[in-house]
Amino acid sequence: MNRIKFVAVMFFALPLLMLTVLKTVPTKAALLTAEDPAVTYKAKCAMCHSPKAEKKFDATKPDAQLVESIMKGVKAATPPNMPAYEGKITPEDAQALVTYMKSLKTAAN
Ligand code: HEC
Repeated sequence: MNRIKFVAVMFFALPLLMLTVLKTVPTKAALLTAEDPAVTYKAKCAMCHSPKAEKKFDATKPDAQLVESIMKGVKAATPPNMPAYEGKITPEDAQALVTYMKSLKTAAN
């Protein structure tokens, strides 16, 4: 009888215990913070534009035009195209990214 009680308790107590333990483990930290263009750039842009923004990026173009390219996307002569980020990031984020990419370029030179 005792054994049955023990098993029954375990069946109910264990899942509860697991739940409380799991709850204390922090949920996966947000990957993208709008405030940090470096994080966004690394996660979303570096694979095409290289970590130092040397590829497919002309830092001499005016900011407004570069921001426009990020929001609307650019059809490249050969794929891959520049994806449109409208709706995914704000124009302010795009401006921050442009500033960040320009700073990367100057740092590399
Ligand atoms: C799938 C690859 C890819 C990804 C991911 C990507 N880009 Fe692009 N990007 C391109 C291509 C291709 C172009 C167009 C190059 C051209 O003019 O032929 C481009 C163009 C641009 C331009 C305009 C450059 C210029 O000189 O006119 C900017 C600015 C830019 N990307 C920023 C970003 C940012 C910021 C991100 C991340 C949020 C990003 N890109 C993600 C491929 C990509």
